[in-house]
Amino acid sequence: MAIILDGKKASKDLKEEVRLSLDQYYKKGAPKCNLAIIMVGDNPASEIYVRNKAKACEAIGIGGQLIKLSEKITQEELEKYIIAVSKDPKVHGVMVQLPLPPHLDADRATELVPPEKDVDGFTTANLGKLIIGNQGFLSCTPGGIIYLLKNHKIVLAGKNVVIVGRSKIVGKPLALALLNENCTVTVCHSKTKNLASITSKADILIVAVGKPNFITSDMVKYCAVVVDVGINRTPEGIVGDVDFANVERQASFITPVPGGVGPMTVAYLMKNTLHAYEISLKGKYN
Ligand code: GUN
Repeated sequence: MAIILDGKKASKDLKEEVRLSLDQYYKKGAPKCNLAIIMVGDNPASEIYVRNKAKACEAIGIGGQLIKLSEKITQEELEKYIIAVSKDPKVHGVMVQLPLPPHLDADRATELVPPEKDVDGFTTANLGKLIIGNQGFLSCTPGGIIYLLKNHKIVLAGKNVVIVGRSKIVGKPLALALLNENCTVTVCHSKTKNLASITSKADILIVAVGKPNFITSDMVKYCAVVVDVGINRTPEGIVGDVDFANVERQASFITPVPGGVGPMTVAYLMKNTLHAYEISLKGKYN
């Protein structure tokens, strides 16, 4: 039976690190750290995520400003909004919750967040820095996954990592971040041939495809570490992309859904917000 990679515990550890750091600044009289969370429309999943983000802010001493905009907003209005919020010197981090309604261009919108306030790491500036090394803001799910693995003392250097899914939010930045951790990284996607032959060679298998029970135990090497990024709503409740009940018998470590990667994403957003705050205090974005 695999050991559970406990995202609830690891996210508490990370949030506590952030809280303690903020406390030190506040004790010296520094201004309050603030995060602006921009959400468009009323996607029910996004509602839950942004509420969790705002709650985490409050618990650790960050001013979490939740800005809810109408589903009907135009691209131009949204862009003006992002620019205006980003200009406020009291706001240290800015994020636009995805997905946006289909009439809006998410890439253009997220690119308007200044790189030094881009706590999601979605701008081309921060993605470019990721190619050079670990210098900018790393996106929250990749950052949270790496923290979760290290928190459980899993060695990364030299490991064969297979990532299934190549999204801009998870797969691609995670591949680069793990390369920076000296892993050997393979990225698979919907056009990959013989997927099982590749996944079954992974020391660490990370799955982010959004398909319930997509990874079955025959696709997993004995004693592999399995990280499930999926959050799928099914009639049986929320399930991941991994057939947990069967893969659990095959793996050495495995993330549960819920309670694995999800809480890590929120905690890593707090870490990135602290980083944005420190950039503002120092007046310097490397
Ligand atoms: N939607 C799903 N994950 C994320 C994330 O990490 N950041 C934002 N902004 N939207 C998301």
